[in-house]
Amino acid sequence: MTTSTPAVSPREFDTDLPAYDRMPQLLTGQVALVTGANSGIGQAVAIAMAQAGADVVVNYVAGSADAVVAAIEKTGRRALAVKADVSQEDEVVAMVAQAVKTFGTLDIMVANAGLQRDSALVDMTMAEWNKVIGVNLTGQFLCAREAAKEFLRRGVRREVSVAAGKIVCMSSVHEVIPWAGHVNYASSKGGIQMMMKSLAQELAPHRIRVNAIGPGAIRTPINTSAWNTPEAYAQLMTLVPYRRIGEPQDIANAAVFLASDMADYINGITLFVDGGMTCYPGFATGG
Ligand code: BGC
Repeated sequence: MTTSTPAVSPREFDTDLPAYDRMPQLLTGQVALVTGANSGIGQAVAIAMAQAGADVVVNYVAGSADAVVAAIEKTGRRALAVKADVSQEDEVVAMVAQAVKTFGTLDIMVANAGLQRDSALVDMTMAEWNKVIGVNLTGQFLCAREAAKEFLRRGVRREVSVAAGKIVCMSSVHEVIPWAGHVNYASSKGGIQMMMKSLAQELAPHRIRVNAIGPGAIRTPINTSAWNTPEAYAQLMTLVPYRRIGEPQDIANAAVFLASDMADYINGITLFVDGGMTCYPGFATGG
Protein backbone atom coordinates (compact mmCIF):
# COMPACT_ATOMS: atom_id res chain seq x y z
CA MET A 1 0.00 0.00 0.00
CA THR A 2 1.28 3.42 -0.88
CA THR A 3 0.17 6.56 0.93
CA SER A 4 -2.30 8.91 -0.77
CA THR A 5 -1.10 11.99 1.12
CA PRO A 6 0.01 14.52 -1.50
CA ALA A 7 3.69 15.41 -1.19
CA VAL A 8 4.66 19.02 -0.66
CA SER A 9 6.70 20.19 -3.63
CA PRO A 10 10.44 20.48 -3.02
CA ARG A 11 10.51 24.13 -4.04
CA GLU A 12 7.93 25.09 -1.42
CA PHE A 13 10.11 23.49 1.21
CA ASP A 14 13.07 25.46 -0.05
CA THR A 15 11.62 28.70 1.24
CA ASP A 16 10.22 27.16 4.38
CA LEU A 17 13.37 26.95 6.47
CA PRO A 18 13.48 27.23 10.22
CA ALA A 19 14.88 30.49 11.55
CA TYR A 20 18.06 30.46 13.61
CA ASP A 21 18.25 34.01 14.83
CA ARG A 22 19.19 33.13 18.39
CA MET A 23 21.93 30.56 18.90
CA PRO A 24 21.89 29.13 22.44
CA GLN A 25 25.06 30.06 24.38
CA LEU A 26 26.20 26.46 24.77
CA LEU A 27 29.95 26.96 24.26
CA THR A 28 30.75 30.08 26.27
CA GLY A 29 34.47 30.51 26.91
CA GLN A 30 35.55 27.48 24.90
CA VAL A 31 38.07 27.30 22.07
CA ALA A 32 37.09 25.48 18.87
CA LEU A 33 39.18 24.59 15.84
CA VAL A 34 37.30 23.91 12.60
CA THR A 35 39.13 22.54 9.57
CA GLY A 36 38.09 23.46 6.05
CA ALA A 37 36.36 26.46 7.58
CA ASN A 38 36.40 28.97 4.72
CA SER A 39 33.60 27.42 2.68
CA GLY A 40 30.54 25.20 2.77
CA ILE A 41 29.74 23.27 5.93
CA GLY A 42 32.97 24.26 7.69
CA GLN A 43 32.26 27.96 7.32
CA ALA A 44 28.78 27.60 8.82
CA VAL A 45 30.13 25.48 11.67
CA ALA A 46 32.88 27.98 12.48
CA ILE A 47 30.47 30.92 12.63
CA ALA A 48 27.90 28.96 14.65
CA MET A 49 30.57 27.98 17.19
CA ALA A 50 31.32 31.68 17.66
CA GLN A 51 27.62 32.54 17.90
CA ALA A 52 27.41 29.90 20.64
CA GLY A 53 30.22 31.61 22.56
CA ALA A 54 33.50 30.00 21.44
CA ASP A 55 36.69 31.54 20.11
CA VAL A 56 37.44 29.86 16.80
CA VAL A 57 40.51 28.74 14.90
CA VAL A 58 39.60 28.91 11.22
CA ASN A 59 41.63 26.41 9.22
CA TYR A 60 41.75 26.73 5.45
CA VAL A 61 44.03 25.46 2.70
CA ALA A 62 43.26 27.67 -0.31
CA GLY A 63 41.68 31.03 -0.97
CA SER A 64 41.02 33.35 1.93
CA ALA A 65 39.49 33.04 5.39
CA ASP A 66 38.91 36.79 5.77
CA ALA A 67 35.11 36.68 5.43
CA VAL A 68 34.74 33.95 8.06
CA VAL A 69 37.12 35.72 10.43
CA ALA A 70 35.11 38.95 10.02
CA ALA A 71 31.82 37.13 10.67
CA ILE A 72 33.26 35.56 13.84
CA GLU A 73 34.64 38.85 15.12
CA LYS A 74 31.24 40.44 14.52
CA THR A 75 29.82 38.07 17.15
CA GLY A 76 32.32 39.45 19.67
CA ARG A 77 34.47 36.31 19.74
CA ARG A 78 38.09 36.00 18.66
CA ALA A 79 39.17 34.28 15.43
CA LEU A 80 42.52 32.99 14.24
CA ALA A 81 42.97 31.96 10.60
CA VAL A 82 45.53 29.20 10.06
CA LYS A 83 46.48 27.97 6.62
CA ALA A 84 47.33 24.26 6.73
CA ASP A 85 46.84 21.13 4.65
CA VAL A 86 45.29 18.61 7.05
CA SER A 87 46.80 15.69 5.16
CA GLN A 88 50.32 16.85 6.14
CA GLU A 89 51.43 15.80 9.61
CA ASP A 90 53.82 18.68 10.24
CA GLU A 91 51.21 21.25 9.21
CA VAL A 92 48.56 19.83 11.56
CA VAL A 93 51.03 19.65 14.45
CA ALA A 94 52.02 23.29 13.85
CA MET A 95 48.39 24.41 13.48
CA VAL A 96 47.27 22.94 16.81
CA ALA A 97 50.38 24.31 18.52
CA GLN A 98 49.59 27.77 17.14
CA ALA A 99 45.97 27.50 18.32
CA VAL A 100 47.06 26.56 21.84
CA LYS A 101 49.67 29.30 21.91
CA THR A 102 47.15 31.92 20.79
CA PHE A 103 44.10 30.98 22.85
CA GLY A 104 45.75 29.09 25.73
CA THR A 105 44.16 25.73 25.02
CA LEU A 106 41.67 23.86 22.83
CA ASP A 107 38.28 22.41 23.85
CA ILE A 108 36.65 21.39 20.56
CA MET A 109 38.07 19.93 17.35
CA VAL A 110 35.75 19.80 14.35
CA ALA A 111 37.56 17.68 11.77
CA ASN A 112 35.58 18.85 8.78
CA ALA A 113 37.90 19.35 5.81
CA GLY A 114 36.95 17.02 2.98
CA LEU A 115 36.83 16.75 -0.78
CA GLN A 116 35.72 14.56 -3.66
CA ARG A 117 37.67 13.31 -6.68
CA ASP A 118 35.08 11.22 -8.49
CA SER A 119 35.82 8.49 -11.02
CA ALA A 120 34.59 5.11 -12.13
CA LEU A 121 36.70 2.41 -10.50
CA VAL A 122 38.59 1.46 -13.65
CA ASP A 123 39.48 5.08 -14.35
CA MET A 124 40.44 6.06 -10.83
CA THR A 125 44.07 7.03 -10.51
CA MET A 126 46.28 6.50 -7.49
CA ALA A 127 46.44 10.28 -7.18
CA GLU A 128 42.63 10.49 -6.90
CA TRP A 129 42.51 7.65 -4.38
CA ASN A 130 45.37 9.01 -2.26
CA LYS A 131 44.16 12.60 -2.29
CA VAL A 132 40.72 11.72 -0.94
CA ILE A 133 41.95 9.23 1.66
CA GLY A 134 44.74 11.65 2.62
CA VAL A 135 42.51 14.65 3.28
CA ASN A 136 39.28 13.01 4.42
CA LEU A 137 40.60 10.15 6.55
CA THR A 138 44.27 10.71 7.40
CA GLY A 139 43.53 14.41 7.89
CA GLN A 140 40.89 13.64 10.49
CA PHE A 141 43.19 11.14 12.21
CA LEU A 142 45.93 13.76 12.51
CA CYS A 143 43.55 16.45 13.77
CA ALA A 144 42.00 14.09 16.33
CA ARG A 145 45.43 12.98 17.51
CA GLU A 146 46.80 16.46 18.02
CA ALA A 147 43.62 17.68 19.72
CA ALA A 148 43.55 14.66 22.04
CA LYS A 149 47.12 15.37 23.15
CA GLU A 150 46.06 18.83 24.32
CA PHE A 151 42.85 17.52 25.95
CA LEU A 152 44.82 14.84 27.85
CA ARG A 153 47.50 17.32 28.91
CA ARG A 154 44.95 19.76 30.29
CA GLY A 155 42.11 17.58 31.57
CA VAL A 156 38.67 18.90 32.42
CA ARG A 157 38.28 22.68 32.50
CA ARG A 158 35.19 22.70 34.69
CA GLU A 159 34.46 26.37 34.25
CA VAL A 160 33.60 25.78 30.59
CA SER A 161 32.69 22.08 30.22
CA VAL A 162 32.33 18.84 32.17
CA ALA A 163 34.30 17.03 29.44
CA ALA A 164 38.04 17.25 28.87
CA GLY A 165 37.48 17.76 25.16
CA LYS A 166 35.17 17.06 22.27
CA ILE A 167 35.99 15.82 18.78
CA VAL A 168 33.39 16.07 16.02
CA CYS A 169 34.24 14.25 12.78
CA MET A 170 32.47 15.32 9.60
CA SER A 171 31.40 12.08 7.99
CA SER A 172 28.60 11.61 5.45
CA VAL A 173 25.56 9.48 4.71
CA HIS A 174 28.15 7.64 2.59
CA GLU A 175 29.67 6.09 5.69
CA VAL A 176 26.73 3.66 5.31
CA ILE A 177 25.30 4.26 1.81
CA PRO A 178 27.51 2.75 -0.92
CA TRP A 179 28.24 5.19 -3.76
CA ALA A 180 29.14 3.95 -7.23
CA GLY A 181 31.67 6.16 -8.97
CA HIS A 182 32.94 7.50 -5.64
CA VAL A 183 34.79 4.54 -4.12
CA ASN A 184 37.55 6.76 -2.69
CA TYR A 185 35.07 9.10 -1.02
CA ALA A 186 32.76 6.39 0.35
CA SER A 187 35.77 4.42 1.65
CA SER A 188 37.09 7.52 3.42
CA LYS A 189 33.74 8.09 5.10
CA GLY A 190 33.33 4.43 6.08
CA GLY A 191 36.82 4.70 7.54
CA ILE A 192 35.86 7.80 9.49
CA GLN A 193 33.01 5.92 11.11
CA MET A 194 35.27 3.20 12.48
CA MET A 195 38.04 5.65 13.38
CA MET A 196 35.53 7.77 15.30
CA LYS A 197 34.12 4.79 17.20
CA SER A 198 37.57 3.42 18.05
CA LEU A 199 38.68 6.81 19.32
CA ALA A 200 35.46 7.22 21.31
CA GLN A 201 36.13 3.90 23.02
CA GLU A 202 39.79 4.74 23.66
CA LEU A 203 39.32 8.29 24.92
CA ALA A 204 36.06 8.00 26.92
CA PRO A 205 37.83 7.08 30.20
CA HIS A 206 39.62 10.42 29.91
CA ARG A 207 36.31 12.25 29.55
CA ILE A 208 36.94 13.03 25.89
CA ARG A 209 33.92 12.55 23.64
CA VAL A 210 34.23 11.65 19.97
CA ASN A 211 31.25 11.73 17.63
CA ALA A 212 30.49 12.27 13.96
CA ILE A 213 27.91 14.06 11.88
CA GLY A 214 26.61 12.36 8.74
CA PRO A 215 25.35 15.10 6.41
CA GLY A 216 23.14 14.16 3.49
CA ALA A 217 22.84 16.44 0.48
CA ILE A 218 23.78 19.91 1.70
CA ARG A 219 23.83 23.01 -0.50
CA THR A 220 27.61 23.59 -0.77
CA PRO A 221 30.22 23.87 -3.52
CA ILE A 222 31.14 20.16 -3.22
CA ASN A 223 27.92 19.04 -4.94
CA THR A 224 26.69 22.07 -6.94
CA SER A 225 25.75 19.96 -9.95
CA ALA A 226 23.35 17.95 -7.76
CA TRP A 227 21.12 20.95 -6.99
CA ASN A 228 21.77 23.93 -9.29
CA THR A 229 19.26 23.10 -12.02
CA PRO A 230 15.55 22.27 -11.56
CA GLU A 231 16.13 18.85 -13.15
CA ALA A 232 19.04 17.99 -10.89
CA TYR A 233 17.16 19.24 -7.84
CA ALA A 234 14.10 17.15 -8.69
CA GLN A 235 16.29 14.09 -9.16
CA LEU A 236 18.02 14.75 -5.85
CA MET A 237 14.68 15.01 -4.07
CA THR A 238 13.86 11.41 -4.98
CA LEU A 239 16.61 10.58 -2.46
CA VAL A 240 15.40 12.90 0.30
CA PRO A 241 12.11 11.97 2.05
CA TYR A 242 11.90 15.40 3.72
CA ARG A 243 11.90 16.98 0.23
CA ARG A 244 14.31 19.83 0.73
CA ILE A 245 18.05 20.14 0.34
CA GLY A 246 20.03 20.58 3.56
CA GLU A 247 21.59 23.92 4.36
CA PRO A 248 25.03 24.34 6.00
CA GLN A 249 23.23 25.77 9.03
CA ASP A 250 21.48 22.43 9.56
CA ILE A 251 24.90 20.85 10.07
CA ALA A 252 26.24 23.74 12.14
CA ASN A 253 23.37 23.37 14.61
CA ALA A 254 24.19 19.68 15.08
CA ALA A 255 27.89 20.47 15.54
CA VAL A 256 27.20 23.02 18.28
CA PHE A 257 24.96 20.53 20.05
CA LEU A 258 27.44 17.63 19.87
CA ALA A 259 30.27 19.84 21.10
CA SER A 260 28.22 21.11 24.05
CA ASP A 261 27.52 19.61 27.47
CA MET A 262 23.93 19.10 26.29
CA ALA A 263 25.40 16.07 24.52
CA ASP A 264 27.60 14.96 27.42
CA TYR A 265 26.32 11.37 27.44
CA ILE A 266 26.62 11.01 23.67
CA ASN A 267 29.79 9.26 22.63
CA GLY A 268 30.74 7.21 19.58
CA ILE A 269 27.72 7.95 17.40
CA THR A 270 27.11 9.38 13.96
CA LEU A 271 24.27 11.87 14.01
CA PHE A 272 22.77 11.77 10.52
CA VAL A 273 21.47 15.16 9.41
CA ASP A 274 20.05 14.15 6.06
CA GLY A 275 16.28 14.74 5.78
CA GLY A 276 15.86 10.97 5.92
CA MET A 277 18.28 10.04 3.14
CA THR A 278 19.45 7.06 5.21
CA CYS A 279 15.83 5.81 5.44
CA TYR A 280 16.11 4.07 2.04
CA PRO A 281 13.47 6.28 0.30
CA GLY A 282 13.36 3.90 -2.69
CA PHE A 283 11.43 1.51 -0.42
CA ALA A 284 8.63 4.03 0.19
CA THR A 285 6.83 2.61 -2.82
CA GLY A 286 8.58 -0.68 -3.40
CA GLY A 287 10.01 -3.76 -1.78
C1 BGC B 1 28.64 14.36 -0.72
C2 BGC B 1 27.71 15.11 -1.64
C3 BGC B 1 26.41 14.35 -1.83
C4 BGC B 1 25.83 13.90 -0.49
C5 BGC B 1 24.62 12.99 -0.66
C6 BGC B 1 27.91 14.05 0.56
O1 BGC B 1 28.76 13.42 1.47
O2 BGC B 1 29.81 15.13 -0.48
O3 BGC B 1 28.33 15.31 -2.91
O4 BGC B 1 25.47 15.16 -2.50
O5 BGC B 1 26.81 13.23 0.26
O6 BGC B 1 24.84 11.97 -1.58
